[in-house]
Amino acid sequence: MTHDLVIRGGTLATAEKTFRADVGIQGERISELGTGLQGKRVIDASGKLVLPGGVDSHCHIEQLSSMGVMTADDFYSATVSAAHGGTTTVIPFCAQHRADNLQTVLKDYHERARAKAVIDYGFHLIIANPDEPTLREHLPEAIRSGVRSFKIFMTYERTRLHDEQILDVMAAARKHGALVMVHAENHGMISWLAGRMVKQGNKLVDCPILIVHVSTNDGIEAIRQARARGLKVLGETCPQYLFLTAKDIDIGMQGALFCCSPPPRDEAAQEACWRGLKDGTLHVYSSDHAPYGLQGKLPKGDKTTFKEMANGVPGLELRLPLLFTYGVGAGRISLPEFVNLTATRHAQTYGIYPRKGTIAVGADADLAIWDPEKSVVVEQTRDQTGYTPYKGRKLKGWPVTVLSRGAVIVEDGRLSAERGRGKFLAREASDALRPLGRDVPEVAQLKAWETPLEL
Ligand code: URP
Ligand code: ZN
Ligand code: ZN
Repeated sequence: MTHDLVIRGGTLATAEKTFRADVGIQGERISELGTGLQGKRVIDASGKLVLPGGVDSHCHIEQLSSMGVMTADDFYSATVSAAHGGTTTVIPFCAQHRADNLQTVLKDYHERARAKAVIDYGFHLIIANPDEPTLREHLPEAIRSGVRSFKIFMTYERTRLHDEQILDVMAAARKHGALVMVHAENHGMISWLAGRMVKQGNKLVDCPILIVHVSTNDGIEAIRQARARGLKVLGETCPQYLFLTAKDIDIGMQGALFCCSPPPRDEAAQEACWRGLKDGTLHVYSSDHAPYGLQGKLPKGDKTTFKEMANGVPGLELRLPLLFTYGVGAGRISLPEFVNLTATRHAQTYGIYPRKGTIAVGADADLAIWDPEKSVVVEQTRDQTGYTPYKGRKLKGWPVTVLSRGAVIVEDGRLSAERGRGKFLAREASDALRPLGRDVPEVAQLKAWETPLEL
């Protein structure tokens, strides 16, 4: 069979293993894995790594912050930036503000993304007002449309939910099959939940949760203990907690640009995050790309206090190259672990696996061909913030060619993707909601020509 496209001679990696194979692509999907494949077009990947395109399940795109600041990135610039860094799927947030009707919010985000995204995308919801119509009608409807995860805040005046509201959202999520992502910065409530409400497996609301942007040893330990008691609590961390410390933002007013919540901590916390990633307590590694420009960061110039700054840092483009350099390159994690943390688990956790997040026959041909030897000194990323916290870093390993549904969208730093080519992904229920997990696609066929990777 002659495929539309063959990626020949590369070293492939999935969450399970690395092996040498050609990838045959027919239309938008992977049609064959094997050796000696023929294609109308061939990309030579010898000496390169062929990885599933990254899935970034935590990013803020064309979103108004709770204080009313618009991100500098829209769906075009953010997805272009993501693609250049090897990410082919994003799951940003549709943010409800207290006065907003959830249905209208969702419709607006769909319209904007449909016109501009260059890679595929899903949505989470941020729930700021779980009133009766929202809980009874709008949330179930959103879930039915494939928006199957909600973020709730335990802190910040304009977004925080009261305990009763949190339980209302959890109950609705449990009833209709959605995953709850928690911005958990309220220590009192966390310890109350962990210590008193949940007693010896006696759960008040049996609702799996994912704690976003975990940054401290204490936080990781709390998740570890909850899991040891049999609770389904997943953790997420982000580049700013592995690669920045408080010292990086202690640089005068310029440090405002790097302000995010939770903030970067110290070296011991970084080490705890690496351990958490390695032992699975931290289940996914996302960017929390929150691309606010100078105006949002310093609305009152030098007079701006930290409470008035838009929180967050850009990270969509460098999320993968940073983890590749400091994780795979430094021998902290293996290549399959890299794939798992950056793509596979995101796809499983957010209901798009195995269509996204792996290399398997029938999966979307979302692939990043990495040159493990390519060195890059970070200057500026392609998002619209005008700064990156990682300026000057020397990174080794770069995604030189990126495919989305079989189409080459980035080649040697050049974009060849049209605005609006990205498609909305109506997602299924999270694997975290399935007691037995879901079927893993058959990969036994790969064994015959599998060879160990020597990097
Ligand atoms: O500082 C951050 N993380 N800003 C983005 C909003 C959020 O809470 O994730
Ligand atoms: Zn948050
Ligand atoms: Zn966030």
